[in-house]
Amino acid sequence: RKNLVSVSDLTTAEVQVLLNEAQAFADGKTWTPDTPKFVANLFFEPSTRTRFSFEVAQKKLGLELLQFDGETSSVKKGESLYDTIKTLESIGADVVVIRHPEDEYYANLLPKLSIPIINAGDGCGQHPTQSLLDLLTIQQEFGDFDNLDVVICGDLRHSRVARSNAEMLSKLGANVWISGPRSWMNGFEDHYGYLSMDEAARRADVMMMLRIQHERHDGHESFSKSDYHKQYGLTVQREQQMKKDSIILHPAPVNRGVEIADELVECERSRIFKQMKNGVFVRMAVLKRALKQI
Ligand code: CP
Repeated sequence: RKNLVSVSDLTTAEVQVLLNEAQAFADGKTWTPDTPKFVANLFFEPSTRTRFSFEVAQKKLGLELLQFDGETSSVKKGESLYDTIKTLESIGADVVVIRHPEDEYYANLLPKLSIPIINAGDGCGQHPTQSLLDLLTIQQEFGDFDNLDVVICGDLRHSRVARSNAEMLSKLGANVWISGPRSWMNGFEDHYGYLSMDEAARRADVMMMLRIQHERHDGHESFSKSDYHKQYGLTVQREQQMKKDSIILHPAPVNRGVEIADELVECERSRIFKQMKNGVFVRMAVLKRALKQI
């Protein structure tokens, strides 16, 4: 069973196979399964990019979508996540894609289910397909990851994107750095070097900006938007200090004018919309893997 719940599920060789397959899809390759395959997308947290890029990927692969709506499903009657997936499996789903607010929601499910699970984000845990699309975007730019300086900036503590990317980029040979409010670095400071935002802008090949996840904060740390932007944001002045070929990533949604200046979101260095485009190709590759076709 080819689950993808965490980047820890993948060796660097497997990552490269997925990136090559995603790049082939980006270059126009097409593939559809020999027999009809059914996929259910279960989103228990809001999403625009992940949800719709999975849907586009599924449609491009000719997969049959089982539409799931938490509000009108039997989850509303108290049915558990396990019983929901077991039901979909019995009905004939071949793969489930799940986003859920609970960290590691999948831990208790994996030993009991046979259907492959693709994690579309768990709480503050992991976001493996976001990491893969970030890797594809970086690889398209720099060819490989060896000794690239990647600085992950901002609200790392609440970020599944930061966790997945720091782990996988380190395995692939990049130098991972962190920047942002010190109190948001928990769990990262022991493993990665800390840079001020000014140092980060000057050193980075890749500035990976993160959204402040207000919905996961307990309300104790509060910055005004403009204070945050001045101290920890990617300002226009800091962008001017960046190296000639450095790029800017952000998983989005973006708080424009807070973690990144409004005018930088679509600037020449920004690959933010390229990341979204790559999301479709990466998810095609991940779905194909889940169907045991790569
Ligand atoms: N980057 C990302 O996961 O965006 P969504 O929450 O819109 O899916």
